[in-house]
Amino acid sequence: MKCFQRIKCPYSKHRNPKSAPNLSEMSNSSDFINSKTSRTVKSSASATSQRSVPELYEEKAHNLRVFSFSELRNATNGFSKLLKIGEGGFGSVYKGLIKPPDGRGDRTVVAVKQLNNSGGQGHKQWLAEVQFLGIVEHPNLVKLIGYCAVDGERGIQRLLVYEFMPNRSLEHHLFNRMLPALPWNTRLRVVLGAAQGLAYLHEELEVQVIYRDFKSSNVLLDEDFNAKLSDFGLAREGPMEGQTHVSTAVVGTNGYAAPDYIETGHLTAESDVWSFGVVLYELLTGRHSLEQNRPKTEQKLLDWVKRFPAEGKRFSMLMDPRLENRYSLTAAKKIAKLADICLSKNRRERPKMSEIVESLKQAIKISEEGSPQQLSAPELVDDIAIDEPDQVYVSKSAERRMSHLAKLRENATAIGKRRFLIMQRAKVA
Ligand SMILES: Nc1ncnc2c1ncn2[C@@H]1O[C@H](COP(=O)(O)OP(=O)(O)OP(=O)(O)O)[C@@H](O)[C@H]1O
Ligand SMILES: [Mg+2]
Repeated sequence: MKCFQRIKCPYSKHRNPKSAPNLSEMSNSSDFINSKTSRTVKSSASATSQRSVPELYEEKAHNLRVFSFSELRNATNGFSKLLKIGEGGFGSVYKGLIKPPDGRGDRTVVAVKQLNNSGGQGHKQWLAEVQFLGIVEHPNLVKLIGYCAVDGERGIQRLLVYEFMPNRSLEHHLFNRMLPALPWNTRLRVVLGAAQGLAYLHEELEVQVIYRDFKSSNVLLDEDFNAKLSDFGLAREGPMEGQTHVSTAVVGTNGYAAPDYIETGHLTAESDVWSFGVVLYELLTGRHSLEQNRPKTEQKLLDWVKRFPAEGKRFSMLMDPRLENRYSLTAAKKIAKLADICLSKNRRERPKMSEIVESLKQAIKISEEGSPQQLSAPELVDDIAIDEPDQVYVSKSAERRMSHLAKLRENATAIGKRRFLIMQRAKVA
């Protein structure tokens, strides 16, 4: 279900903006903007700054390029279906080629996102994306090159132009059976990159940014499989001074949102940490957070993984069969334990993203130091060896069963888009 809280859209009064959107004119409409209010300073980077996201945006937004609609139409061959590379809850994404600003030199490959619902909520998310991506700069965050905002006779158009990420998303590589399985070490590197991106947003900027939509489809991958977070449409500034949370409508993606946020509408950085824990389990298991095609007891990943605790003898049954035993069991257990604390019911018990980064670095070290020996062994009646070696052993019969299950699962990954308004109970800011 895709259903957002509707807002009035003052921006529609302004036609064909030639420069970065003027945020001060939009502040009444946008629940993420508190430009003149003093902020809680979360950052260790600049403990004295009181600047807000809009203020930072005013300073940095000149780096963004403003495109005309016809430029982007030409760049994508008239939004050709052949160049369409994805579709999410907000709109379609196309591969395109843009000329340099001065019109001279080679064209650059970009991704162009065209919003479906450009009025109301769509505009608000577009604006959040421009605003947040306009002020951040980090190797693990996707680069926004520019945007297009036109309110013409043919209707409202809102587009975003990003650096092109040739390897699509983590979701694509974890769940698409047409692709080779993502190797263990690559998975760890990808998730470390994503953690570094979130740590930067939570802890390293002048203002804290809560990402609010962390999931495997929003972790994009460049040509070297470096992770970059995309989709800042739901991002919010962290709480104001003296506040523990931001009160807001509950939006996000089913299967990833923290239960405390769903129940109360209280948004915190720890909400992102919960979502990160969900993705860690997706990475270990090769299963989506929600898979409706499975038996009832297996549909919710977080319920299913409880059967295979990190300290238990059956832990290896949780692991993605597509890894074909090529992973470090010690590192996998460490990551499962890390996921468990990210998924603490009490949000105060969840770790900070910087702590998660450190933990993942250790897991990578363990994985790299371990000797990856591929064990061959006689078939076992049950799926696992009792004394698990560091490199896990799964019997051939189990492998066959798992690969059969994997085939059955293929359809499950095609469950449509799950972005939605979880509920409206929460107090809306
Ligand atoms: N900068 C980019 N470079 C290359 N491909 C991209 C880029 N941005 C998005 N895509 C592709 O387009 C797909 C759709 O992205 P989009 O963010 O619109 O939707 P989503 O993440 O799948 O779902 P949701 O709307 O719930 O976030 C992505 O999964 C990715 O494969
Ligand atoms: Mg997305």
